[in-house]
Amino acid sequence: MILIAAQKGGAGKSTLAVHLSALAERDGRVLLVDTDPQGSLSMWHGRRSAGTLRLTRASAQAVPEVLCTARREGIRWAVIDSPPHNTSLVSALMSRATLTLIPVRPGPFDLDAVGATLAMARSLKAPMACVINAAPPPGRGERQTSAVAETRAVLTNMGAPVLPGQVSQRASLSHALISGQSVDEYDPDGRAAAEIAAVWSTVSELARSFPRHA
Ligand SMILES: Nc1ncnc2c1ncn2[C@@H]1O[C@H](COP(=O)(O)OP(=O)(O)OP(=O)(O)O)[C@@H](O)[C@H]1O
Ligand SMILES: [Mg+2]
Repeated sequence: MILIAAQKGGAGKSTLAVHLSALAERDGRVLLVDTDPQGSLSMWHGRRSAGTLRLTRASAQAVPEVLCTARREGIRWAVIDSPPHNTSLVSALMSRATLTLIPVRPGPFDLDAVGATLAMARSLKAPMACVINAAPPPGRGERQTSAVAETRAVLTNMGAPVLPGQVSQRASLSHALISGQSVDEYDPDGRAAAEIAAVWSTVSELARSFPRHA
């Protein structure tokens, strides 16, 4: 179970949940779980015309039962999107997650806000990793911009593991959603799809290495 969580609104939880779960389908059947009353993922899923990716809406209390049934039905990966500003719900989910992925946008306000999510993960001893999202794309020949390097350094100083690479600010990540697609379906050869694939590769490897793997 991969939880995507950040107390900060708009960090990119739902965006990453969509694009990562669509890619995860290459590694086995996936259930996307929408625990956010805003229902962003459910609306996206309703616009889909193709694919086998399943989605269910659930409250935090219902998630254990949903996962149990999913496992019996041969689901390999559950990707859970969570709402902002709901500490008790996120904490209940985090305590069960194989890995909590925390999207962080480069910028002082986002870095200020991530402390609360990191503290929650630490207090629950929950495996977690930050992913830098909506970052300025690196220039030609550049590995990352200075803004991203600074963000990475601040997170590392806060004691937070940070995934290598980044998910850049790219229009295709939001355009794909309008037609109910993932970026992998919308623009499979684009740079956004390549970045998402690299993130999924690290996330799935990390998840497999944790004892709570499910
Ligand atoms: N890497 C990205 N590139 C381009 N746009 C992005 C990226 N990440 C997020 N966005 C856009 O930023 C906005 C907020 O993203 P999203 O809804 O995924 O955040 P969220 O954390 O789920 O928000 P909430 O806390 O309200 O649930 C959306 O309009 C989304 O399309
Ligand atoms: Mg959301």
